This record gives sequence, structure tokens and C-alpha cells, in this order.
Amino acid sequence: MMLKAEAISASYGRVKVLKDIDMSVESGEIVCLVGANGAGKSTLLKVISGIVPAGSGKFLFEGQDITNKKPDFIVKAGLSHVPEGRQIFADLTVRQNLILGSYVHNLPKQEMAKLFDSVFELFPVLKSRLMQKAGTMSGGEQQMLAIGRGLMSQPKLLLLDEPSLGLAPLVVETILKVIQNLRSTGISILLVEQNVNAALQISDRAYVIETGAIVTEGKARELMENDEIKKSYLGM
Ligand SMILES: Nc1ncnc2c1ncn2[C@@H]1O[C@H](COP(=O)(O)OP(=O)(O)O)[C@@H](O)[C@H]1O
Ligand SMILES: [Mg+2]
Repeated sequence: MMLKAEAISASYGRVKVLKDIDMSVESGEIVCLVGANGAGKSTLLKVISGIVPAGSGKFLFEGQDITNKKPDFIVKAGLSHVPEGRQIFADLTVRQNLILGSYVHNLPKQEMAKLFDSVFELFPVLKSRLMQKAGTMSGGEQQMLAIGRGLMSQPKLLLLDEPSLGLAPLVVETILKVIQNLRSTGISILLVEQNVNAALQISDRAYVIETGAIVTEGKARELMENDEIKKSYLGM
């Protein structure tokens, strides 16, 4: 088991936004979180990565308790979060953004070079833009940079929050292919995606979350055939 959440709850002030969440990601899986705007998907990713505290419950990452550990500790353990809206540093260059992604490991130069190469293999465009200010790139390129930066911490599990948001259909396709390629390199993925149909196509399993609680879970294939899911999330 890569990640296991047991009875996780979380609140903003007095408002409870996650209620008793049980979920897991197995090694090598792509798992998708499906839910309407405001359901709590981003919050769940933030609680996993230590940005928002868990009020109760427990996260195990490869058997280690990571509940409410500092974000740095969690990144170092092998869990990387690519946040909604990318959150890259617009005034820094592509290179500087990527280096920031690797800071928890403090790697020697040679290792850094290898890491850079592995990111360029996935996103060749970043190599030709190394000295460009990140904020001057297209939305798709910025998303690739955000994922690239996430990979610079050498994660075993990557949390991706709406990676295709606001991107043109062709770019969305590229991003989804990249996610599949990542999985084939052995990285597990927890994916939040508004583009539910496409997300289910590439996922092994999915959880449906409504107002902070998981209401349905199962194999992605089966959920695609579920009448409720079709009506609510696939527009059929
Ligand atoms: N920083 C915050 N402070 C207070 N409420 C928040 C904050 N972030 C999110 N919320 C609220 O928590 C709920 C879940 O939000 P979020 O996790 O962002 O949902 P999703 O990602 O599924 O759209 C929403 O009602 C949202 O308004
Ligand atoms: Mg969100």
C-alpha cells in the first residue's frame, strides 16, 4: 500500500469540509478523485501533503505515519503535490522553478543533472525554455513546468490537482499522456480532474466525493458505467 487514509476529517475554522475520509492508493495505481466544485478534493490533497491540518484520522505513507507532519518532511518521504492553479514562480526562470522543486533533497550536481534530464525527457519543451521567465510561457507550458517541478523531488506518489484546467484540448491530451507515462515509470498518481470522462479513462480506480464525504468508490471502468455517475459527472 502506497497511501492509506483512515477516517480523515478537516475543517476551515468551524466549517467541517472533510468527513471521515477512507481511501487508498496502491503502488503503481492512478486513482482519481471525482466531485463537484467545493466538494473538498483540493482540501484532501492539501491535508495529505501537510498544508492543511487533519482534525482527526490518520495517513499512512508506505506504512509510515505522515499525519500532520511538516510539508517538507512529507515531500522528502516521497510525496509531491502539484497544486491547483500551478503556483509556479512567474518571475523566476524555468530552471530556477525546477531547482526549487528539488530543494528538500540537497542533491550533488551530478544527481541534479540526471534529474533535469529525466524531466526534459518527459517535457522536451522545458529544455529549450530553461532561461525563460516562467510567467511568460503558455498555460500548457506552465502546467508542464508545475508537474516537472513536482518531479524534481523524486516522488513515489504524485498528487495532481486539476492539471488540465483551462488548457486547450490538445494540451489536455498531452498532459493525460504524460500522466500515463509517469505511471509506467513506477510513480503512483492521485489525480483530481474536472475532465471526469478523460480522467476515468486513464485511472484504475476512483472515489466520488460529495460535500466532504466519499459516497462511491470503485474501478474506473465500472464507475463509467454507473448511471448516477453518468448523469452527475459525465453529462449523459
Ligand atoms: N482556505 C479556505 N478557507 C475557508 N474555506 C475554504 C478554504 N479553502 C476551501 N474552502 C472551502 O472548503 C470547501 C472545499 O473546498 P475545496 O477543497 O477547494 O473543493 P474542491 O477542490 O473539491 O473544489 C469549499 O466549501 C470551499 O469553499
Ligand atoms: Mg479544487
